Amino acid sequence: EKFLKFFESRGHKIVPSSSLLPTDPSVLFTTAGMQQFKPYYLGEKSPWGKNVASCQKCIRTSDIEEVGDERHLTFFEMLGNFSFGGYFKEEAIKLAYKFIVKELKLEIDYVTVFEGSHGVEFDKESYGIWKNLGISEDKIKKSGIEDNFWGPTGTGGPCGPTTEIYVNGIEIWNIVFNEFYFPGTREELLSGISGKKLEKLKTPGVDTGMGLERLAMVVQKVSTVFETDLFEPIIKLIPEEFNERKKRIIADHAR
Ligand code: GLY
Repeated sequence: EKFLKFFESRGHKIVPSSSLLPTDPSVLFTTAGMQQFKPYYLGEKSPWGKNVASCQKCIRTSDIEEVGDERHLTFFEMLGNFSFGGYFKEEAIKLAYKFIVKELKLEIDYVTVFEGSHGVEFDKESYGIWKNLGISEDKIKKSGIEDNFWGPTGTGGPCGPTTEIYVNGIEIWNIVFNEFYFPGTREELLSGISGKKLEKLKTPGVDTGMGLERLAMVVQKVSTVFETDLFEPIIKLIPEEFNERKKRIIADHAR
């Protein structure tokens, strides 16, 4: 609620979570907050205006083998603010900084920016914005396409370089700058073998994602998402004979 109010009071329309079963036929489940907004990055007019925020229920089966560690889940809720041709890098980074540092009073360990590859340049604009906000250069790390270039989801869609915020050693917020459209899967983009090329979007957009459970973990100063108040009531119901890892897996699937 704090997140949604923060963005509502800064000109964002709050949009309810869409179904876990998306209308987008290129994916089986909703995997990100941006999924319900995909057409608006590609030129369709958004009924909610240019700037929106949401708390989206997501399922990511790709993380299923990681469930049981301190922070991975298959079902989670993703807080996000989005802009379809409204604001871009400067505003997006300043808003994120303000929410984390001023509103939640958390300390940023470091941030990452895209180092450039696959024909896309190093994101020196984001680097400069973080520097101007007072993040020292040793805390602005450059990182490659695997971690700092998001999307596309499914068989094609908007994608672009990202800047990520780390708090207490974990990535909590991914800020994506959708500058491109890729007409294929992420695997095709990474491998380059399909010969498909990134196309520049007419109107660049912003797509951010911050896991509610990870945010709760750092705000509540606990060392796993399973110790937050989102999970404790479920974990309590699981019989003692299950070991910790099994309890976490059951809790994730139960949700
Ligand atoms: N769409 C941004 C993210 O999932 O991190």
